[in-house]
Amino acid sequence: LANTFQGDGEPLIASLALSGVAFSATFAMIRWLGPTFIKSGLKGVDMSKHHKKELPECMGAICAIVYLLVVIVFIPFPFYKDIVAATSGGGNRDVVLQTEHVQQGRFLHRFPHSKLASYLSAIISLQSISLLGIGDDLFDIRWRHKFFIPAFASIPLLAIYFVDFGVTSIVIPIPLQPYLGELFNLGALYYVYMASVAIFSPNSINILAGINGIEVTQSIVIALLLVLNDCLYLLTPYPHPATDSHLFSLYFLLPFLGVSFALLWYNWYPARVFVGDTYCYFAGMVFVVVSILGHFSKTLVLLLIPQIFNFLYSIPQLAGIVPCPRHRLPRFNARTGLLEPSVTPWTAERQPKPPVAWALKLLDRLRLLRVTLDERGNFVETSNFTILNLWLVWRGPLREDRLAVELTAMQTVVGLFGLFVRHRLALLIFKE
Ligand code: UD1
Ligand code: MG
Repeated sequence: LANTFQGDGEPLIASLALSGVAFSATFAMIRWLGPTFIKSGLKGVDMSKHHKKELPECMGAICAIVYLLVVIVFIPFPFYKDIVAATSGGGNRDVVLQTEHVQQGRFLHRFPHSKLASYLSAIISLQSISLLGIGDDLFDIRWRHKFFIPAFASIPLLAIYFVDFGVTSIVIPIPLQPYLGELFNLGALYYVYMASVAIFSPNSINILAGINGIEVTQSIVIALLLVLNDCLYLLTPYPHPATDSHLFSLYFLLPFLGVSFALLWYNWYPARVFVGDTYCYFAGMVFVVVSILGHFSKTLVLLLIPQIFNFLYSIPQLAGIVPCPRHRLPRFNARTGLLEPSVTPWTAERQPKPPVAWALKLLDRLRLLRVTLDERGNFVETSNFTILNLWLVWRGPLREDRLAVELTAMQTVVGLFGLFVRHRLALLIFKE
């Protein structure tokens, strides 16, 4: 496998091996530490089961910590040859000769400090987001307070981006080029855009949640599609200018897949543990890190289409136009054992204002919401604005694991289409 990739395959093999270690360590530690988490109060009730059992919450913290240790242990591997060459009086002669050759006669080997800086900034960002996630699981931070915190975690990334690449222009599609030129410089706005992706990705995964396994499966699908995207670049027969950034992306995604599959083992229906907000934030930030430092944040946006839809659809509740209960997860019908759309009740005192009422009825007509009116036309209840509830409006009641499978399949299909758009259709309107 490694040889089919251009250049040096050894760090990739080390990364694969360490990802295996990450899987095993996470697998064992979730089993061992579950009861400890319950004892210290990190627990939650599974609301969609007959027996309302308490399960350990915040298992994403174990994933994040194992992951961080693994990527830290991995640091020397991609730099091994550079370290040897930069420090060698003795050391590996071949490497010295090779680098001398590459440097065209210059004797001193330059250590790739900027590459190391990217790597370290990624680790700092991921550490910061893990702290936020653990804080949220411990103290249940208010939604409007925690929403912007990922922007702070992205500062190390943006600083490195500024110093190392600084590219803030976007390529204009061919039909628009006569008016706007080939490139359009967004300047500082490009940093605002990247910070917005950093805020959006973790939060959007956290609100597409509430049934067993869904947080982990959507993250695994996105990670696998990003890996596929990396391989499409790395397997081209010609050296591609983006080879390094896609290798970098693999080094961060493979261990993520390792810890995520271990977590899925316990979180899949019927769940034995919950992932907590830590996992959702952490997963979202892994995607931000690889896509910003790998210059493919627009590809990430294509892979987040279901999350973007869920977020846009949620806005009426997030913005308070429609009341937003603490939990919007689907409702468990104990008689049938199936999930149904959960609802927000409307009282005689609180009815939607006329334009809102009109919009809600229109959404109901379009089958984008379920509205229940009483005989006098007053609002009794409306289904909650999440993609999970909407799916149940469309498909009727489903068992929890069935709903998770269907949504994961939808995420996969939409994501593959996103990659297709990126790699095929984009060629029609952009010059490669
Ligand atoms: C987000 C959602 C909330 C949803 C919740 C479910 C928004 C604005 N917030 O809130 O609507 O109800 O996620 O995760 O959309 N749980 C289950 N089964 C599961 C997963 C979770 O019953 O498969 C319950 C458990 O009681 C668990 C709790 O949800 O303890 C975790 O909720 P938490 O992640 O703290 O909610 P938020 O992320 O704040
Ligand atoms: Mg959550």
